Amino acid sequence: MTIKSWNYLKEYHDEKEEIDSAIRRVLDSGTLILGENVKKFEKKFAAYCGVEYGVGVNSGTDALFLSLKALGIGHGDEVITVPNTAVPTVSAIVSAGAVPRFVDVDQETYLMNVDAVENVITSRTRCIIPVHLYGQCVNMKGLNQIALKHGLSVIEDCAQSHGAENFSRKSGSMSDMAAFSFYPTKVLGGFGDGGMIITHNEEYYKKLKRLRLYGMEEKYYSLEHGYNSRLDELHASILLSRLGRLDQYIKRRRILAEQYDQGLKDSGLVLPKTEGGNKHVYYHYVTRHPEREWIIRELEKKDIVVNISYKWPIHVMSGYQSLGYRVGDFPVSENAARELFSLPMYPSLPGDEQRIIIDSLLEILSDMPTAQVAQ
Ligand SMILES: Cc1ncc(COP(=O)(O)O)c(C=O)c1O
Repeated sequence: MTIKSWNYLKEYHDEKEEIDSAIRRVLDSGTLILGENVKKFEKKFAAYCGVEYGVGVNSGTDALFLSLKALGIGHGDEVITVPNTAVPTVSAIVSAGAVPRFVDVDQETYLMNVDAVENVITSRTRCIIPVHLYGQCVNMKGLNQIALKHGLSVIEDCAQSHGAENFSRKSGSMSDMAAFSFYPTKVLGGFGDGGMIITHNEEYYKKLKRLRLYGMEEKYYSLEHGYNSRLDELHASILLSRLGRLDQYIKRRRILAEQYDQGLKDSGLVLPKTEGGNKHVYYHYVTRHPEREWIIRELEKKDIVVNISYKWPIHVMSGYQSLGYRVGDFPVSENAARELFSLPMYPSLPGDEQRIIIDSLLEILSDMPTAQVAQ
């Protein structure tokens, strides 16, 4: 039996009745696009995050892209983010016509090093995108102070941080706009693509609703150039049904993380560190070891699959060479990319599988030929 890094089937089977009936209700309703389910889900999810407005879109990538567009960011503008992130954080900036400028990440959390942000602000900088990677938040107080001082907008990338908190504020509630993904693996995941932008600002809300619908408020009349990026009724109904369980999913992720922490504390792996003031939701349980490749090969021999997020920082990828960065520019991200890997983590990960993962790691690490122990 293979132990996978993620598997949705048990959750689906546990929730099958609710989900199947939500789908049936949509199909029987006669409305498939921008109906009551989307409206309800937007309201409820935004409220869950402590924010007034939500706009459902078709992916987390579009949520970022449309947020930039709503802020009027485009050609000639610079947007600051990190190279240790998922490609879409950066591709959305490029799609909007702006230029991504990177700052390195923190040595222990692998999140944006807020202290480095001011060094890269230029007269062209318009916006900062902090990425709440792996399930915990960037230090938003510090970042917002910098943004305020320099008159910059902030868009939180919350694709991996549904329900996470920073000094008792929910991720997504601490900036001009926040972009969420409901890709199936996410802390709140659907069974296909989906995303949402949340904001406290009514003007941004109205603009975002136009931008996702060809620039329209009234049928067939564009007030401005827009796009097609809609969350559909089927996915909204599934997400609405799952939203009621989000706190349960998070609780289970925290229990699994605590069990990994306990089981692996003397293993030699560097375990995840939660920054002060943060409540982590463990989208990924990220560990670190200089002998990562060897450990992964040994785990594979035992049929255990782990995930690497991310094997390459964005600035070294051939797709982003035009940004002008070189290997060596962001050493913390580059070293992390060589050593990080994440252990299977999803709410329905069976306890006996987690025990096998922990025992296998302990065995592999104690048998390591070079007996290297990570610092
Ligand atoms: C940090 C981050 N930002 C943005 C995205 C984009 O989300 P989506 O896959 O829904 O477009 C993802 C998802 O992979 C992500 O992890």
